[in-house]
Amino acid sequence: MTRKIIIDTDPGQDDAVAILLALASPELEVLGITAVAGNVPLSLTQKNARIVCELAGKTDVPVFAGCDRPLARNLVTAEHVHGKTGLDGIDLPDPTMPLQDAHGVDFIIETLRREPTGSVTICPLGPLTNIATAFQRAPEIIDRVQEIALMGGAYFEVGNITPAAEFNIYVDPEAADIVFKSGVPITVLPLDVTHKALVTKPRNNAFRALGRIGEVVASWTDFFERFDKEKYGSAGAPLHDPTVIAYLLKPDLFSGRHINVEIETKSDLTRGMTVADWWHVTDRTANATFMGDINADGFFALLTERIALL
Ligand code: RIB
Ligand code: CA
Repeated sequence: MTRKIIIDTDPGQDDAVAILLALASPELEVLGITAVAGNVPLSLTQKNARIVCELAGKTDVPVFAGCDRPLARNLVTAEHVHGKTGLDGIDLPDPTMPLQDAHGVDFIIETLRREPTGSVTICPLGPLTNIATAFQRAPEIIDRVQEIALMGGAYFEVGNITPAAEFNIYVDPEAADIVFKSGVPITVLPLDVTHKALVTKPRNNAFRALGRIGEVVASWTDFFERFDKEKYGSAGAPLHDPTVIAYLLKPDLFSGRHINVEIETKSDLTRGMTVADWWHVTDRTANATFMGDINADGFFALLTERIALL
């Protein structure tokens, strides 16, 4: 029985690897990919999502453009990490597959209305603007969502865009607040996990040995590791977003806790912080499974095995 998913994304090299992993995995049926403004503006994230589908030879997967800015704030982008195009590292041809006419938010709403209740998982890999907008426009779809498995937030690792916040949540904290209060079962892959999924040289060499697509992946990670190497002294690029797809494929690679997570939306100093009650010091109701650890070797073995299939 395949698992139906919608990938909501702001490619971004790590988003791109997540999309490749999903498209390479027969356990998953990617119903569609909705682009959102984040790492780079929407005009580029929707284009990059199509570039990745064409790279994987999966041009039948519909790609939609969603929201081009956060609910209530100006867009903050991350070209300093991902480059001007969002997919810097190697030149890839412009996409020829069409962008769907429908808005990404309408696709999310219509898909959840059409598919049986509890049969669609949403995988946000960027700011949560599209998801929150869909929930605001069509509240009746909220109870129809099987699960939200997202990359975002942090507890021990705290922040990567400010001292207090992770990028995806920081860009649209109001959207994150709506999603985390929605009541949908949520699984969070935070920086605490993704900073342990580092593309070390041996791991990148394993990608490179896979042929064309592996070489592309290796060029992407060679490019975007600069930021984390300079900032954290990391041994390689943290593959943030593919951990979401790996969780769907092999949940035993991860461990975490079911806890309360609330989003800071008021303070300028801590905007976008995921206030994760990891130690259960409050009586606030648990609303998310917040992952804290990953079997990194198992993760990279899965990634390498699946990318080789494309
Ligand atoms: O903080 C890391 C997250 O922000 C990743 O999803 C990356 O692609 C960016 O969107
Ligand atoms: Ca992303």
